Amino acid sequence: MTRVFVPRDAAALALGADAVAAALAGHAAIVRTGSRGLFWLEPMVEVETPEGRIAYGPVSARDVPELLSSGMLQGAAHKLRLGKPEELHFLVCQTRFTFARCGIIDPLSLDDYRAQGGLKGLRRALEFGPERIVEEVTKSGLRGRGGAGFPTGIKWKTTAEAVGDQKYIVCNADEGDSGTYADRMLMEGDPFTLIEGMAIAAIAVGATKGFVYTRSEYPHAIATFDAALAIARREGLLGGTVLGSGHAFDIEQRVGAGAYVCGEETSLLDSLEGKRGQVRAKPPLPAHKGLFGKPTVVNNVITLASVPFVLTEGAAAYQSVGFGRSRGTMPIQLAGNLRYAGLFEAGFGLTLGELVNDIGGGTRSGRPVRAVQVGGPLGAYFPPALFDTKFDYEAFAARDGLIGHGGVVVFDDTVDLARQARFAMEFCAAESCGKCTPCRIGSVRGIEVIDRIMAGDRVEANLELLEDLCHTMKFGSLCALGGFIPYPVMSALTHFPEDFRALHKAAAE
Ligand SMILES: Cc1cc2nc3c(=O)[nH]c(=O)nc-3n(C[C@H](O)[C@H](O)[C@H](O)COP(=O)(O)O)c2cc1C
Ligand code: SF4
Repeated sequence: MTRVFVPRDAAALALGADAVAAALAGHAAIVRTGSRGLFWLEPMVEVETPEGRIAYGPVSARDVPELLSSGMLQGAAHKLRLGKPEELHFLVCQTRFTFARCGIIDPLSLDDYRAQGGLKGLRRALEFGPERIVEEVTKSGLRGRGGAGFPTGIKWKTTAEAVGDQKYIVCNADEGDSGTYADRMLMEGDPFTLIEGMAIAAIAVGATKGFVYTRSEYPHAIATFDAALAIARREGLLGGTVLGSGHAFDIEQRVGAGAYVCGEETSLLDSLEGKRGQVRAKPPLPAHKGLFGKPTVVNNVITLASVPFVLTEGAAAYQSVGFGRSRGTMPIQLAGNLRYAGLFEAGFGLTLGELVNDIGGGTRSGRPVRAVQVGGPLGAYFPPALFDTKFDYEAFAARDGLIGHGGVVVFDDTVDLARQARFAMEFCAAESCGKCTPCRIGSVRGIEVIDRIMAGDRVEANLELLEDLCHTMKFGSLCALGGFIPYPVMSALTHFPEDFRALHKAAAE
């Protein structure tokens, strides 16, 4: 029977992939995969032909009888035929290191994983030993993809050198940023890459136990990852002797309870310990005193999943791509009001304008782009005037922004930036862990001040107060939740001042 690949990724499922698979059952051998990340084409179905895979999409269950009768299983012409997926413009423009297998393999087939180069990095890591692994990761220039962009090699070296009878690898899969989904896609589409990356980290620092802290809103990722863990244990990739070596390492998945702040590494550790997730004061760093007081590496899913490539292809191959101090690739998540939203892995250095207009195709509504929020709820709103900003940690920071976990959320000209600024404060008030005053109380006062501005009440005086409050939150908060909320608020104020003065002006006229 002809093999047909139907994604089982949550995005494809939401668009009816299960019904498509059911309609195709009996006509073809169905292989469920992750997603290639071209969401406007999901469910994107691929047929195996002698010339390679041929894609069709977006396919609905209703289309299936007609597709079958017009020769889809032979790769025949049809209005939904897209051609070879690897020749689609959105994929041609990418550099897929971390997501190379996602959407191609059966996520739960270790044979598929091996056939596509899986486990080579771990085998090399076992040959190298701890010091050389850390050296290689350091040389690659890999920086944490969770948001702060901290050099991964330095974090690993600190944990490797820390003294402790037990060390841990904790993977942060809380993925709370708006418009982000790369962690979820990876866990659903290629979970063994994460397991391999965690095993390499464990050998590097001398850890025997790992935890993955996954957000509760990801039922499919949770199920796929648990199934992958069971296979990895059965096949000797995890357990008493990793791939028959002298290293023991096992991983447990834990599910969060829906708090944004539990993505912050120290509240995540508290939550893992069974406590209410509250931010811990640093020092001590988790690398010295982390989970249960033991030396712990906390890394994002994408950081860890990038490591097998670094070990397989070498630090130089990873390092050769990128811009400035941002080396390697970033899975950029294009979201919001965009024609072509999806996962776009590329070397750092593309401009925001290239991403939004050329790759993303502009707005889905057809109206002009007015603002783009990059880096989740703590990220700044950039106007088109800043579209020459390169996707790079330093370039965004220089313009009072951040790239965070790589979420890009696009808004058209119907957006009201004063309301977005209010929303930032509301979000902070709802998600604050409550430990420090600037964030806990400041965010509530922030909502009140913005409400007064929006009502046209002493606008100039209240704008000054809002700036003052943002300054206090930025410099007085214990963690980046309270400390970075001023970024969306102040960027809205700086780049879109007219939205804050509209009522005032209307009242004065
Ligand atoms: C409020 C807040 C939320 C965060 N949420 C996440 C998250 O969902 N996922 C993540 O990987 N890092 C998140 N971080 C960053 C983590 O604290 C930490 O820097 C990261 O997990 C370290 O991994 P990395 O070095 O691989 O980026 C958050 C930070 C803050 C302040
Ligand atoms: S800034 Fe907010 S979330 Fe962070 S420690 Fe303070 S109260 Fe908690």
